[in-house]
Formats: sequence, C-alpha cells, structure tokens
Amino acid sequence: MVYEQVIKAAQEKYGELLRRQLERVEDLKNEGDWIDFSKLDKLIIGVCGGDGIGPYICSSAQKVLEFLLADKLGSGKAEIRIIEGLTIERRAEVLKAIPDDTLAELKKCHVILKGPTTTPKKGDPWPNIESANVAMRKQLDLFANVRPVTVPELGIDWMFFRENTEGGYAVGSDGINVTEDLAIDFCVATAQGTERIIRAGFEFAKKNGKNYVSIVTKANIIKTTDGRFLTIAEKVAEEYPEVKWDDWFIDIMTAKLIDPARRSDFRVFVLPNLYGDIITDEAAQIQGGVGTAGSANLGKRYAMFEAIHGSAPRMVAEGRGQYADPCSMIKAVALMLSHIGETEKARKLDMALDVCVQFEKKLTMTGRSTGSTGDEFAQYVMDTIRRDDLEKVWQAHVDKAKASAK
Ligand code: IPM
Ligand code: MG
Repeated sequence: MVYEQVIKAAQEKYGELLRRQLERVEDLKNEGDWIDFSKLDKLIIGVCGGDGIGPYICSSAQKVLEFLLADKLGSGKAEIRIIEGLTIERRAEVLKAIPDDTLAELKKCHVILKGPTTTPKKGDPWPNIESANVAMRKQLDLFANVRPVTVPELGIDWMFFRENTEGGYAVGSDGINVTEDLAIDFCVATAQGTERIIRAGFEFAKKNGKNYVSIVTKANIIKTTDGRFLTIAEKVAEEYPEVKWDDWFIDIMTAKLIDPARRSDFRVFVLPNLYGDIITDEAAQIQGGVGTAGSANLGKRYAMFEAIHGSAPRMVAEGRGQYADPCSMIKAVALMLSHIGETEKARKLDMALDVCVQFEKKLTMTGRSTGSTGDEFAQYVMDTIRRDDLEKVWQAHVDKAKASAK
C-alpha cells in the first residue's frame, strides 16, 4: 500500500509523543503541595528582562517592586536576582527555548518577574525555536495562568484561570507533517492537569467570595479533550456546593464579553489553554488594551509573573524602548505581591494603577517621545502609592465613573 511508509513514520513520532505525555502523567501524580511562602526564611525573586521592550518595562516594574518590598529586601527576608540569558539572540545561539544555564538559575528562585520574549514564527530571521514563555510554563510546571481584568465603573471584575501546560500548547511544536499535503497537530488533556486547574478556579472563587465559576470549552465539537474538561468540572464542582457554576462554549462566551447586559455577571472563568489565550486578549482590550494587563503563571513550586503582550522589537529598533508602557509589568508585580502574601501592598498597587491609568491620567504614554517614559510612569505610580488619601481618591473616582456609566 502506497501510504504504509508515511503512516508508519507518523505513528512512530506519535508513539514518542504519547510516551512523553504518559511519563508526564506519572510526574503529575507525584507532584507536591503548594509551597507556603510565609514559611520561607528568604524569598528569592528572579528578574529576567527578556528582549525587545522587555528589559525596559521590566526594569521600570522592578523599581516599583523594590519600593514596595523595601522592608523585606532590607532585612534580608527577600532577595532580587537578575537572571541573564533569556534573549532571542542567546536563545538562537544555543538553539533552545531557554538556555540551560538560564533555566538552572531560574530554578533557584521561588518567583520570577519576566519581561516579554520574542517568539519566532515562520519567516522571521530567527530559527523557529519554541516560545520561551511556553517552555518556561512547561519546565517549571506553571499550570495556572491567572489573568485578572477589571473595569470598576462597568462592574467588570473577572478572573481567568487558563490551563497553561496542556491543550493545543502541550505538543504545539511537535505536530506531524505526515505528507506534503497532510499536517496534524495534537491537543492534550490529562485527568490530573485538568482537575488541578479547575480546582484552582473553584478554590479562588470560594476563598474570595466570588461565588460564580464559568467553565468555557468547545465540548460539542472537540469532544474528547474538551469533553473530558467538562466532565471533570462537573465532578470538582460537586465539592464546592457554595459556588454557583455553569458551562459555556467559547464562541458564545467571546460574544458575551462584549454584551453590556450580561458581562458584569461573570466572575471566574476556567478554560483550556488556547481559548484562555485568545479570550484574555479580548478581555484585556475591554480593560484598555493588552498593555494594561498582567499575568500570573502559577505552579505549586514556582510562579512567574509577566505581561500578556509581546516584546515589540520594532519599538526598540526605532529607538523608542524607553517609551514603552510598563503598566502590564507593574500589574504583574501586583500579582506577584498578592501571591507571596503581601495582599495589602498588592491592593495599594492595584488602586494606584487604576488612579494613574484610568482616572487621574497625569502622564500619558504614547510609545514615543511625545509621551512619558516608562520610568517616569513608574515614578508616578510610586508617588501615588505614597499618597495618604489613595484609598479615598480611588473610591471617589470609582463612584463617579459608576454614576456616569449608568
Ligand atoms: C500569552 C502569549 C503567549 C501565549 C505567546 C507569546 C507564546 O500570547 O501569554 O498569552 O500564546 O501563551
Ligand atoms: Mg496571548
């Protein structure tokens, strides 16, 4: 038979993929519990700037982090380590998504603040290596991609729990070109990987009194993996009788996010990887653009905090790197603070960001010399945090915006 040879070659590759995923399942079965940051003698915070605008916005965000954690950094309860090597040049040189020495340094940290990194695509001057984000999520097992989106005056208070290590991303760089005419990719859902993200969403809802979880899939079409996602959600939900939940298909949910009559009802979303990727850009746009959104990548051992957008190499090529908006990275700092138990500092930072970006807007970022620099913006945020009347100012703005939104 004329196909036999290509089928056999594809089967061999497929077998290898299956073996790796089955081994992964064994690791998942043995994973430990969440690390308790409050029990650490010293918290190690890695900072890696990435490339493109990454080092610029990451360094502005680091200033805010140092300002807010001054007490712990001063007393030696926390340490910031700069981690080199996560640039596209270095990654292309060693042909690895993350160079080995960089990965080893990352693994010595507890939490990481990471600037955007360039993801080569077909046609770029770079070798087509795997995305550093995706590799880091997999290698450090950062399975929960947690992305908040809030627009107080519209009553929007959303938290997205995107599965971060499976779905279409798990073997996204290992699809099979069976022949010149046939290409196949794979979508992965494990029982363990699915359950832990759904549980994380429900736990968050329960602990934060959000009380409403929406599971988003396309289980009517992608019946096996998304079907499994939904079945496991039904089981996990039984353990959280106090949390209301429902399920949606991704297409209609995409529409509902821009439905003014409905969207403020939603609170917590749990979704497979690719849907989570797409819908969080849409949600961020509603908040003011992807430049305003931060992202937490949480695992039980490590956590990484980043912007949700890319590295904008063109800005740097045009000499505008210092004008890139660091807002998303500063938002990532707030998520980090809240993850390490500094909830009050995180709350202040969030309020200050709302005041600076949405309400008071004393500085404008234009991405060019017509606007402020990232460091000036970071300074503005820090000055705002210092204000004694921050809470009052924030509340007054929210009330006013709510009234005018009606
Ligand atoms: C994100 C980004 C990444 C993703 C890219 C840069 C690989 O879009 O964090 O949402 O697809 O996950
Ligand atoms: Mg994305």
